[in-house]
Amino acid sequence: MKKIKKTLFHLRKKKDEGEKIISLTAYDALTASWLSECDIDFLLVGDSLANVVAGYETTLPVTMDQIAYHTEIVVRGAENIPVVADMPFLSYEINPEEAVRNAGRLVKQSGADGVKIEGGMNIIPAVKKITDAHIPVIGHTGLKPQAVLQLGGYKVQGKTPAAAEIIKEEARALQEAGAIAIVLECIPSGLAQEITEELNIPTIGIGAGKGCDGQVLVTHDLLGWFEKPKKFVKQYSDFRNSAITSVRTFIDEVNAGEFPNQEHTF
Ligand code: KIV
Repeated sequence: MKKIKKTLFHLRKKKDEGEKIISLTAYDALTASWLSECDIDFLLVGDSLANVVAGYETTLPVTMDQIAYHTEIVVRGAENIPVVADMPFLSYEINPEEAVRNAGRLVKQSGADGVKIEGGMNIIPAVKKITDAHIPVIGHTGLKPQAVLQLGGYKVQGKTPAAAEIIKEEARALQEAGAIAIVLECIPSGLAQEITEELNIPTIGIGAGKGCDGQVLVTHDLLGWFEKPKKFVKQYSDFRNSAITSVRTFIDEVNAGEFPNQEHTF
Protein backbone atom coordinates (compact mmCIF):
# COMPACT_ATOMS: atom_id res chain seq x y z
CA MET A 1 0.00 0.00 0.00
CA LYS A 2 1.33 3.49 -0.88
CA LYS A 3 2.43 5.39 2.22
CA ILE A 4 0.46 8.54 3.05
CA LYS A 5 2.71 11.52 2.44
CA LYS A 6 3.54 13.75 5.43
CA THR A 7 2.39 17.29 4.68
CA LEU A 8 3.94 20.64 5.49
CA PHE A 9 1.21 21.23 8.05
CA HIS A 10 2.92 18.95 10.56
CA LEU A 11 5.57 21.70 10.91
CA ARG A 12 3.18 23.84 12.95
CA LYS A 13 2.14 20.79 14.98
CA LYS A 14 5.80 20.13 15.80
CA LYS A 15 6.28 23.70 17.02
CA ASP A 16 3.13 23.45 19.14
CA GLU A 17 4.38 20.19 20.65
CA GLY A 18 7.92 21.51 21.22
CA GLU A 19 9.52 19.07 18.75
CA LYS A 20 12.40 20.19 16.53
CA ILE A 21 11.88 20.53 12.75
CA ILE A 22 14.63 19.21 10.48
CA SER A 23 15.15 20.08 6.83
CA LEU A 24 18.00 19.38 4.40
CA THR A 25 18.61 20.27 0.78
CA ALA A 26 18.37 17.84 -2.13
CA TYR A 27 18.93 18.53 -5.81
CA ASP A 28 18.63 15.04 -7.33
CA ALA A 29 16.54 11.87 -7.10
CA LEU A 30 19.14 9.59 -5.51
CA THR A 31 19.90 12.01 -2.67
CA ALA A 32 16.16 12.54 -2.16
CA SER A 33 15.72 8.78 -1.97
CA TRP A 34 18.30 8.12 0.79
CA LEU A 35 17.30 11.29 2.69
CA SER A 36 13.75 9.92 2.69
CA GLU A 37 15.02 7.12 4.91
CA CYS A 38 16.05 9.66 7.55
CA ASP A 39 13.55 11.32 9.84
CA ILE A 40 13.47 14.65 8.01
CA ASP A 41 10.40 16.92 7.88
CA PHE A 42 10.87 18.31 4.38
CA LEU A 43 13.43 18.41 1.58
CA LEU A 44 14.42 21.79 0.22
CA VAL A 45 15.39 22.20 -3.42
CA GLY A 46 17.45 25.26 -2.54
CA ASP A 47 18.77 27.79 -5.01
CA SER A 48 22.05 26.85 -3.27
CA LEU A 49 22.19 24.40 -6.17
CA ALA A 50 23.96 27.35 -7.82
CA ASN A 51 26.98 26.85 -5.53
CA VAL A 52 26.70 23.11 -4.91
CA VAL A 53 25.75 21.74 -8.34
CA ALA A 54 26.53 24.46 -10.87
CA GLY A 55 29.74 26.00 -9.46
CA TYR A 56 28.48 29.59 -9.36
CA GLU A 57 29.71 32.08 -6.74
CA THR A 58 26.20 33.36 -5.94
CA THR A 59 22.64 32.12 -6.30
CA LEU A 60 21.68 34.94 -8.67
CA PRO A 61 22.09 33.04 -11.98
CA VAL A 62 19.60 30.28 -11.03
CA THR A 63 16.61 30.18 -13.38
CA MET A 64 13.02 28.99 -13.01
CA ASP A 65 13.75 26.19 -15.52
CA GLN A 66 16.62 24.93 -13.35
CA ILE A 67 14.61 24.97 -10.11
CA ALA A 68 11.67 23.35 -11.91
CA TYR A 69 13.89 20.55 -13.27
CA HIS A 70 15.67 19.87 -9.96
CA THR A 71 12.36 19.93 -8.07
CA GLU A 72 10.86 17.42 -10.51
CA ILE A 73 13.75 14.96 -10.06
CA VAL A 74 13.82 15.39 -6.27
CA VAL A 75 10.07 14.72 -6.12
CA ARG A 76 10.67 11.55 -8.17
CA GLY A 77 13.19 10.25 -5.64
CA ALA A 78 11.48 11.45 -2.45
CA GLU A 79 9.20 9.10 -0.59
CA ASN A 80 6.70 10.11 2.06
CA ILE A 81 8.37 13.48 2.58
CA PRO A 82 7.25 16.93 1.43
CA VAL A 83 9.43 18.81 -1.07
CA VAL A 84 9.76 22.61 -0.97
CA ALA A 85 11.10 24.47 -4.02
CA ASP A 86 13.09 27.68 -3.61
CA MET A 87 11.88 30.54 -5.79
CA PRO A 88 14.91 31.87 -7.68
CA PHE A 89 16.03 35.48 -8.00
CA LEU A 90 13.56 37.57 -10.05
CA SER A 91 10.87 34.89 -10.16
CA TYR A 92 8.67 36.69 -7.60
CA GLU A 93 9.88 40.31 -7.28
CA ILE A 94 8.40 41.75 -10.49
CA ASN A 95 4.76 41.45 -9.49
CA PRO A 96 2.56 39.11 -7.40
CA GLU A 97 0.88 37.71 -10.55
CA GLU A 98 4.20 36.50 -11.91
CA ALA A 99 5.09 35.16 -8.45
CA VAL A 100 1.94 33.05 -8.27
CA ARG A 101 2.41 31.82 -11.85
CA ASN A 102 5.97 30.70 -11.06
CA ALA A 103 5.04 29.16 -7.70
CA GLY A 104 2.13 27.40 -9.41
CA ARG A 105 4.48 25.96 -12.04
CA LEU A 106 6.70 24.46 -9.30
CA VAL A 107 3.65 22.82 -7.71
CA LYS A 108 1.69 21.89 -10.83
CA GLN A 109 4.48 20.73 -13.14
CA SER A 110 7.31 19.80 -10.79
CA GLY A 111 5.23 18.37 -7.94
CA ALA A 112 6.47 20.63 -5.09
CA ASP A 113 4.42 20.73 -1.89
CA GLY A 114 5.26 24.38 -1.25
CA VAL A 115 7.69 27.16 -2.09
CA LYS A 116 10.25 29.21 -0.17
CA ILE A 117 10.78 32.91 -0.89
CA GLU A 118 13.54 35.23 0.32
CA GLY A 119 12.60 38.75 1.39
CA GLY A 120 10.90 41.09 3.81
CA MET A 121 8.30 43.80 3.22
CA ASN A 122 9.02 43.69 -0.54
CA ILE A 123 7.57 40.18 -0.88
CA ILE A 124 4.47 40.50 1.30
CA PRO A 125 2.04 40.99 -1.67
CA ALA A 126 3.58 37.95 -3.40
CA VAL A 127 3.31 35.80 -0.26
CA LYS A 128 -0.39 36.78 0.09
CA LYS A 129 -1.12 36.06 -3.57
CA ILE A 130 0.61 32.66 -3.53
CA THR A 131 -1.09 31.75 -0.25
CA ASP A 132 -4.44 32.78 -1.77
CA ALA A 133 -3.73 30.24 -4.50
CA HIS A 134 -3.51 27.59 -1.74
CA ILE A 135 0.23 27.08 -2.12
CA PRO A 136 2.12 26.84 1.19
CA VAL A 137 4.85 29.48 1.45
CA ILE A 138 7.94 29.40 3.65
CA GLY A 139 9.48 32.86 4.15
CA HIS A 140 13.23 33.49 4.42
CA THR A 141 14.67 36.53 6.16
CA GLY A 142 17.81 37.60 8.04
CA LEU A 143 20.60 37.06 5.53
CA LYS A 144 19.00 36.92 2.09
CA PRO A 145 21.66 35.53 -0.25
CA GLN A 146 19.75 36.78 -3.30
CA ALA A 147 20.39 40.34 -2.01
CA VAL A 148 24.17 39.79 -1.92
CA LEU A 149 24.97 42.61 -4.36
CA GLN A 150 23.11 45.10 -2.19
CA LEU A 151 24.51 43.68 1.06
CA GLY A 152 28.10 43.65 -0.18
CA GLY A 153 28.73 40.07 0.96
CA TYR A 154 27.34 37.24 3.09
CA LYS A 155 27.34 38.97 6.46
CA VAL A 156 25.50 38.30 9.71
CA GLN A 157 22.35 40.45 9.73
CA GLY A 158 20.40 42.11 12.56
CA LYS A 159 23.38 43.02 14.72
CA THR A 160 22.23 46.53 15.67
CA PRO A 161 18.95 47.16 17.55
CA ALA A 162 17.52 48.97 14.48
CA ALA A 163 18.49 46.15 12.11
CA ALA A 164 17.10 43.57 14.53
CA GLU A 165 13.79 45.46 14.69
CA ILE A 166 13.49 45.39 10.88
CA ILE A 167 13.97 41.60 10.84
CA LYS A 168 11.35 41.20 13.59
CA GLU A 169 8.90 43.32 11.59
CA GLU A 170 9.59 41.27 8.49
CA ALA A 171 8.95 38.04 10.39
CA ARG A 172 5.66 39.38 11.80
CA ALA A 173 4.56 40.58 8.35
CA LEU A 174 5.41 37.21 6.77
CA GLN A 175 3.31 35.42 9.37
CA GLU A 176 0.47 37.90 8.83
CA ALA A 177 0.67 37.38 5.05
CA GLY A 178 0.15 33.63 5.47
CA ALA A 179 3.65 32.11 5.54
CA ILE A 180 3.55 28.68 7.20
CA ALA A 181 7.15 28.91 8.50
CA ILE A 182 10.15 31.21 8.23
CA VAL A 183 13.81 30.42 7.57
CA LEU A 184 16.07 32.70 9.64
CA GLU A 185 19.54 32.84 8.15
CA CYS A 186 22.71 34.17 9.85
CA ILE A 187 21.30 36.34 12.60
CA PRO A 188 22.34 36.53 16.27
CA SER A 189 20.89 33.64 18.28
CA GLY A 190 19.19 35.97 20.80
CA LEU A 191 17.25 37.69 18.00
CA ALA A 192 16.26 34.33 16.46
CA GLN A 193 15.03 33.14 19.85
CA GLU A 194 12.93 36.30 20.39
CA ILE A 195 11.31 35.90 16.97
CA THR A 196 10.70 32.21 17.63
CA GLU A 197 9.00 32.95 20.96
CA GLU A 198 6.83 35.70 19.47
CA LEU A 199 5.60 33.92 16.32
CA ASN A 200 2.94 31.22 16.15
CA ILE A 201 4.48 29.76 13.00
CA PRO A 202 7.77 27.81 13.21
CA THR A 203 11.18 29.33 12.61
CA ILE A 204 13.85 27.23 10.92
CA GLY A 205 17.38 28.45 11.53
CA ILE A 206 20.59 28.30 9.54
CA GLY A 207 23.37 30.11 11.37
CA ALA A 208 20.75 31.44 13.80
CA GLY A 209 21.46 29.39 16.93
CA LYS A 210 19.55 26.69 18.75
CA GLY A 211 16.60 28.82 19.86
CA CYS A 212 14.78 28.26 16.55
CA ASP A 213 12.00 25.69 16.14
CA GLY A 214 14.14 23.76 13.68
CA GLN A 215 17.33 23.66 11.65
CA VAL A 216 18.08 23.50 7.94
CA LEU A 217 21.46 22.85 6.32
CA VAL A 218 22.85 22.23 2.87
CA THR A 219 23.31 18.45 2.82
CA HIS A 220 26.68 18.70 1.07
CA ASP A 221 27.95 21.03 3.83
CA LEU A 222 26.91 18.58 6.55
CA LEU A 223 28.54 15.65 4.74
CA GLY A 224 31.84 17.45 4.19
CA TRP A 225 31.84 17.81 0.38
CA PHE A 226 33.57 21.19 0.60
CA GLU A 227 37.16 21.89 1.59
CA LYS A 228 36.41 24.80 3.91
CA PRO A 229 33.34 24.52 6.15
CA LYS A 230 31.30 27.65 6.93
CA LYS A 231 31.28 28.79 10.57
CA PHE A 232 27.68 27.69 11.16
CA VAL A 233 28.16 24.24 9.62
CA LYS A 234 29.23 21.14 11.49
CA GLN A 235 30.68 18.49 9.18
CA TYR A 236 29.27 15.14 10.26
CA SER A 237 31.33 13.23 7.74
CA ASP A 238 34.46 13.69 5.65
CA PHE A 239 33.01 12.88 2.24
CA ARG A 240 35.54 14.86 0.18
CA ASN A 241 38.63 13.14 1.59
CA SER A 242 37.05 9.71 1.70
CA ALA A 243 35.93 10.07 -1.97
CA ILE A 244 39.44 11.18 -3.01
CA THR A 245 40.98 8.22 -1.14
CA SER A 246 38.52 5.80 -2.80
CA VAL A 247 39.26 7.12 -6.30
CA ARG A 248 43.02 6.95 -5.70
CA THR A 249 42.68 3.35 -4.49
CA PHE A 250 40.67 2.51 -7.65
CA ILE A 251 43.41 4.02 -9.85
CA ASP A 252 46.14 2.11 -7.97
CA GLU A 253 44.22 -1.17 -8.28
CA VAL A 254 43.64 -0.69 -12.03
CA ASN A 255 47.33 0.09 -12.53
CA ALA A 256 48.33 -2.95 -10.46
CA GLY A 257 45.96 -5.24 -12.41
CA GLU A 258 43.94 -5.94 -9.24
CA PHE A 259 40.67 -4.52 -10.59
CA PRO A 260 38.59 -5.93 -12.20
CA ASN A 261 39.21 -9.33 -10.66
CA GLN A 262 37.30 -12.60 -11.10
CA GLU A 263 34.42 -11.39 -8.91
CA HIS A 264 33.72 -8.38 -11.17
CA THR A 265 34.17 -10.19 -14.48
CA PHE A 266 31.58 -12.04 -16.64
O1 KIV B 1 19.14 27.63 -0.97
C1 KIV B 1 19.22 27.06 0.13
O2 KIV B 1 19.76 25.95 0.24
C2 KIV B 1 18.64 27.73 1.28
C3 KIV B 1 18.87 27.20 2.63
C4 KIV B 1 20.07 26.57 3.01
C5 KIV B 1 18.04 27.76 3.69
O3 KIV B 1 17.99 28.69 1.12
